[in-house]
Amino acid sequence: MYIESPRYTERFGSVRMNYVQMVVALDSGTKSELPPHGAMGVMKIDEETIKHFEDKMAIVIPIKDEKLKLFEGVISGIPHDCLVITVSNSQIEKIDRFRMEGDALNQICRFTSREALIVHQKDPAIAESLAEAGYNDLLGEDGLVRDGKCAAMVIGLLMAKAAGKEYVGFVDADNYFPGAILEYVRNYAAGFSMAKSDYSMVRILWHYKPKLSAGLYFKKWGRVSEITNKYLNDLISSKIGFETEVVKTGNAGEHAISMKLAEILPYAAGYAVEPQELVSIFENFGGILPTRERKVMEQGVDIFQIETRNPHLHEEKGDEHLKDMILSALSTIYHSPLCDKELKQAVLSELVRQSIIKEGEEPLPLHITAAPKKMDTKKFVAAIQEDFDKYRALQ
Ligand code: GDP
Ligand code: CO
Repeated sequence: MYIESPRYTERFGSVRMNYVQMVVALDSGTKSELPPHGAMGVMKIDEETIKHFEDKMAIVIPIKDEKLKLFEGVISGIPHDCLVITVSNSQIEKIDRFRMEGDALNQICRFTSREALIVHQKDPAIAESLAEAGYNDLLGEDGLVRDGKCAAMVIGLLMAKAAGKEYVGFVDADNYFPGAILEYVRNYAAGFSMAKSDYSMVRILWHYKPKLSAGLYFKKWGRVSEITNKYLNDLISSKIGFETEVVKTGNAGEHAISMKLAEILPYAAGYAVEPQELVSIFENFGGILPTRERKVMEQGVDIFQIETRNPHLHEEKGDEHLKDMILSALSTIYHSPLCDKELKQAVLSELVRQSIIKEGEEPLPLHITAAPKKMDTKKFVAAIQEDFDKYRALQ
């Protein structure tokens, strides 16, 4: 593919956050000449490089009661060499949707001889292995894994680790365009190929997000993203003393992380998970607060933001959760030790302006799951590996 070269990088301690890079063309052929490096501000990432990273990557699909046709489409878009890991919280009683998902996955894997794993979030065996490894943050009062996409992501990334993968990417199950999924994963691979550090992250910015109102309208920015990005940028600006607009992917659900970085990040519940990753990276490696991760400070953390060619179209589940999204994102900033008094006040005013909290109220602290590395991952991985066959889509 052809992609804009990283033109400008914001440095924040040992974090290197790159400005958005646009995909120029989805394919770069095998014959075409490589432009003189950087001459046109465009880089060629050849197919071999993309395949090299896809082979080391697991793609985690969190799913909860989505239309089966959408799920099938999503799987069909994931490059063949990636290991597919489906973490489902779909209903089992009455209609066993989890079983239907397993059957659909099994069929595709048979037709295409590919590998995939599928696990139910509420599988007691998973909860047991987590408890044994001391990872109680993920467990609810009933002793099973909590609800929510965040818990699914963490289980998925631990399974990716158990399968020996070096990168883990996430894609939602409710996407209408298999071609967009294919592009997201190729963009993940392209991003990782540009990283200098073993600790890297690739976040997707959708070119357009069409809305079905009167006709199809290709909307460039979501309102929620705009607010999230503004305050994430303000958080950086307040620390480096220069205004920046580098963050454009605060809410990016579609993102991928190198396993080494994924293991040392905490994960917040609900809609806070994606912005919290950035806040935690700034906190841990931004050079302002003390860190225990000396190796990371030496290598640095590379963050890439890649703008897709495909538009993003997913199931619309109504507007009620927009306020919840803003509250979650801004809570991550409000409760960060990096957030100074002035920014806290600005966050409160924004939340009052959006009628999300009342004057005098504060956002509640979020439930945050500790970084996987803080628990005995080896124990969990060993327990999962023992049961691996049970989770294979192809039995
Ligand atoms: P939005 O796209 O941000 O509005 O959020 P969605 O409701 O589409 O959720 C994103 C993805 O996470 C979808 O694939 C959902 O099916 C999935 N999801 C949502 N909640 C859960 C959950 O509790 N567990 C799992 N495993 N997946 C979930
Ligand atoms: Co969605």
